[in-house]
Amino acid sequence: MSTMIFDLRSSETMIFDLQMQAMANVGKKEQWLINSSDLDWFRNQKLGEGGFGTVFRGSYLGAPVAVKTSQTSATRRGLSDMALELRTLRRLRHPNIVSFYGACLAPGIEGGLLLVEELVEGKTLESYFSQDDHNNNNNNNKDNNHHPHSSDDALAPWRVLLGIMSALRYLHGHEPSIIHGDIKPENVLVRDGEIAFPKLVDFGLCRRQLNTSRPMGGTRRWMSPELLLPGASRAPNRATDIFSFGRLAFFTVTGKKPLSHMNQKEVFEYTRSGKVAELLWPDVPKAFQSQCMALCQSCLPEDPLSRLTAKEAFEDILAWVPQVDREYITRPQISL
Ligand SMILES: Nc1ncnc2c1ncn2[C@@H]1O[C@H](COP(=O)(O)OP(=O)(O)OP(=O)(O)O)[C@@H](O)[C@H]1O
Ligand SMILES: [Mg+2]
Repeated sequence: MSTMIFDLRSSETMIFDLQMQAMANVGKKEQWLINSSDLDWFRNQKLGEGGFGTVFRGSYLGAPVAVKTSQTSATRRGLSDMALELRTLRRLRHPNIVSFYGACLAPGIEGGLLLVEELVEGKTLESYFSQDDHNNNNNNNKDNNHHPHSSDDALAPWRVLLGIMSALRYLHGHEPSIIHGDIKPENVLVRDGEIAFPKLVDFGLCRRQLNTSRPMGGTRRWMSPELLLPGASRAPNRATDIFSFGRLAFFTVTGKKPLSHMNQKEVFEYTRSGKVAELLWPDVPKAFQSQCMALCQSCLPEDPLSRLTAKEAFEDILAWVPQVDREYITRPQISL
């Protein structure tokens, strides 16, 4: 039933209109339908942009929010991804997943669908940790032993990886599992503050893990080889998320894009051959590098069945920091 309502790929205008009406009815019943007169969004305050959508700062009944719009109503691709995002996000509750406030279905505006989410004041993981030259022009700190990020939180890489793996554990723990499908640094926001706090965003490619799951997109540098094999079914599954997380872990700890020595085309050709290209780790180790190297080895095998589960990966990351520090982190009032 919910597939019939939220899958907007049909090109028939009459079916589309009926689906939008049915979606509004579900929204009323589930109390997430937002009245357009209660929502303001500011075109001159762009928070970010992805393949198919633009996200603006906005205000919902006076509360600061992020408003996601679809750019490409002409092709319906953006809109249909957003409807699938709405379908999943409306049910998710996790501290490391961006909170969903509601959706505004207003014919005539930006393809007719606006997603309203918690405003995460911070940076994408990409700009938080990147040490790649084009992002690093103003950074004079070239001490390689430092964590590759600007905050004073020495545990930032650990906190980010633990938080995102906790979110994946929650998603994969659903029955059937929810697959995020596009784990990469642009889809993780790190909240400003003394302590790095990650939030997973962008559920436009998420799918339920079903035998009938459709192929999905994704970004090649972060994608597992089986998704690119010629003739492969490209069905999303838990192991493909774990693979992308392995690549994300490399980036989080080193500040370098994985396979940065290869261009997009080379990554594609290599990955399509079914092989996993080796990561080039820095000679002078970064903080958490040895733990991360072991984790990557267990998240990035060619064989999906040999990869860690989210629960195993979570427990692995948790153990990177001694128990006493962890207690201190979760209960900062304790003095050590
Ligand atoms: N809740 C939010 N708070 C602050 N900034 C956000 C929020 N959601 C998204 N952004 C910013 O907007 C960018 C694009 O958002 P998002 O990844 O959800 O859209 P997208 O990539 O266009 O989605 P899709 O891939 O489904 O088309 C993010 O990388 C981030 O910089
Ligand atoms: Mg995105």
